[in-house]
Amino acid sequence: MRSIVMRAGLAIAGLVAVVGLIGTAHPTAARPQAAKAGAPQQSVAANYVGEETCLTCHEGQAYKGTAHALKSNAKTPAAMHGCESCHGGGKDHVEGGGDKAKIVNPKTLDASAASDTCTSCHNRSAHALWDGSQHDQRKVGCLSCHSVHSSKGEKQLNATNEAQICASCHKNITNKQHRFNHMPVREDKLQCSSCHNVHGSTNVKLLKAGTTVDESCTSCHQEKRGPYLWEHAPVADSCTTCHDPHGSNNDRMLVAKQPYLCQRCHVTSRHPPTVYEGFVLKNSTNANKIFGKACVSCHQQIHGSNAPSGKAFLR
Ligand code: HEC
Ligand code: HEC
Ligand code: HEC
Ligand code: HEC
Ligand code: HEC
Ligand code: HEC
Ligand code: HEC
Ligand code: HEC
Ligand code: HEC
Ligand code: HEC
Repeated sequence: MRSIVMRAGLAIAGLVAVVGLIGTAHPTAARPQAAKAGAPQQSVAANYVGEETCLTCHEGQAYKGTAHALKSNAKTPAAMHGCESCHGGGKDHVEGGGDKAKIVNPKTLDASAASDTCTSCHNRSAHALWDGSQHDQRKVGCLSCHSVHSSKGEKQLNATNEAQICASCHKNITNKQHRFNHMPVREDKLQCSSCHNVHGSTNVKLLKAGTTVDESCTSCHQEKRGPYLWEHAPVADSCTTCHDPHGSNNDRMLVAKQPYLCQRCHVTSRHPPTVYEGFVLKNSTNANKIFGKACVSCHQQIHGSNAPSGKAFLR
């Protein structure tokens, strides 16, 4: 038994040496570790007392029933150092009879430091791009949206639903849910997080999919992806030229009423571009459509056309 422990000890010593070497050769590769040197986990080994001890004084502070308490998952706090996975070793705190100064309370830390506590574990896949992301930069930390001990909703969120949390800071956006046409977030068919990854992303505006606004939209609306034989320039540029992704009071969440939507760009064209031109009104049987559904009643393939004669997006 003893020899196994010793060998393990040697192996760890060897590993440390290797890491040390790599660290010297590639300082940037070693940076994240170094930056987290002060994080609680590092101090656990020397100062560990175990969860049972903590609970003798803090019975109300359990995290039972949350994902963190699942011992069957070897990566959870429960399977590792319990309370001290997040609060750091508690020996001094306990010996001091509950000395506040000798224990980490993420709530009283600066937002980035508190987030470091969490990213010591949550630093992969969807969370890999947290450091330096829009929220991190503006000191919106994990605890602005999550709570470990007193969460109110799924995913340990501070509110019963996601949009409520966002509303506390992005009221202008969440209010668009009350416009006549909106993405069905209010109806629970979509979440803010269906389009955004608030933990960081490679796209603009924390969009979850792709690297452009269009790629984000077409990750769901695939039929609008193209490429088309006849592309409509603004569609290839950005869907948000014509649609408000959160909601608007126009049909199809368009940013302007038709035909004004089109006339923002098409002020002069060979056929009368505005409804006020007498020619269309008097001579065309489609004149009424301009008042009704406007330009798209003829230019139906407004997102692009694959018909050989679809240059004008009529088919
Ligand atoms: C002997 C009883 C006792 C034990 C055991 C104990 N604590 Fe405490 N703890 C206290 C008391 C008392 C306070 C409140 C101090 C105050 O408000 O001044 C406290 C406060 C805290 C705080 C809040 C600190 C702050 O800045 O507000 C945290 C976090 C904490 N304890 C975590 C732990 C953890 C983790 C353990 C186990 C490692 C633990 N405690 C074990 C008595 C204890
Ligand atoms: C996954 C990380 C994590 C684990 C595990 C954890 N805590 Fe906490 N603890 C926090 C965070 C974060 C806060 C700040 C308040 C919140 O998010 O609920 C906190 C706050 C506290 C506080 C201060 C409460 C206050 O209102 O200031 C005490 C006391 C505490 N924890 C004790 C414990 C004890 C005891 C355990 C183990 C039974 C434990 N914690 C396990 C992360 C954790
Ligand atoms: C010791 C590692 C560890 C630490 C530290 C840790 N977590 Fe976790 N956390 C996990 C594991 C493992 C899971 C379960 C698997 C998963 O969802 O990734 C989890 C799950 C979660 C979930 C999903 C809950 C659910 O119901 O699906 C949230 C939210 C979360 N953690 C937030 C936090 C926050 C906030 C902190 C910092 C205060 C934190 N975690 C600290 C390991 C950790
Ligand atoms: C701006 C609010 C906000 C911030 C800040 C935030 N989260 Fe979240 N988090 C959410 C929302 C909303 C969800 C649920 C949707 C999702 O999975 O993206 C979530 C989900 C999670 C999950 C569960 C993921 C899963 O797949 O089940 C974990 C774990 C998590 N967050 C950890 C963290 C950690 C760690 C931090 C800090 C580094 C953090 N969050 C910061 C809002 C936030
Ligand atoms: C505590 C306040 C706060 C909360 C809660 C919050 N945010 Fe933010 N959010 C910010 C701040 C501050 C910025 C940075 C704004 C800026 O740079 O103009 C930001 C930026 C963003 C951006 C990127 C904007 C850009 O210009 O790149 C998106 C998208 C976003 N938040 C979505 C969300 C979503 C979705 C939620 C809810 C799950 C949420 N936020 C919750 C404060 C918050
Ligand atoms: C259908 C996808 C989608 C949904 C659902 C969605 N967003 Fe967005 N959001 C976007 C796109 C696309 C942009 C970028 C708009 C642009 O560049 O004009 C954006 C931009 C933002 C911004 C930055 C605004 C700015 O002016 O820079 C914030 C904040 C934001 N969204 C919050 C939210 C919140 C909160 C929710 C939930 C109520 C939400 N989003 C739901 C797609 C979505
Ligand atoms: C996560 C999937 C998803 C993403 C990403 C997405 N949408 Fe949607 N979109 C939907 C769903 C679901 C509906 C509702 C369909 C329904 O109710 O039948 C919808 C509906 C629409 C509608 C029709 C509204 C109406 O009145 O019929 C438009 C327009 C639209 N989306 C544009 C966009 C744009 C522009 C983007 C990019 C900013 C985008 N969508 C991104 C899922 C998505
Ligand atoms: C030049 C303006 C314009 C741009 C740019 C644009 N759309 Fe549209 N879109 C419209 C108009 C106009 C309608 C309404 C068509 C109708 O009522 O027949 C519409 C309708 C829709 C609809 C609902 C009806 C349908 O055809 O399924 C969806 C979904 C949609 N657009 C998605 C997108 C996506 C995704 C993009 C970006 C790839 C995009 N739009 C770019 C003008 C535009
Ligand atoms: C943001 C500006 C913009 C908006 C809004 C816009 N377009 Fe366009 N549209 C263009 C540009 C740029 C072209 C390419 C012009 C060229 O190649 O000469 C184009 C091309 C076209 C063409 C083909 C012209 C040709 O000769 O090939 C038609 C038809 C058209 N648009 C109709 C519409 C309709 C209908 C709407 C409203 C639903 C609309 N457009 C909205 C910018 C816009
Ligand atoms: C009654 C059917 C109809 C309506 C309504 C209609 N168009 Fe057209 N449009 C056409 C036809 C047909 C062509 C093709 C003409 C050609 O190929 O010579 C065309 C061509 C175009 C072109 C490309 C050629 C040019 O003249 O520059 C543009 C741009 C255009 N329309 C914009 C619009 C806009 C903007 C509206 C709404 C104000 C609109 N159209 C309404 C039938 C219509």
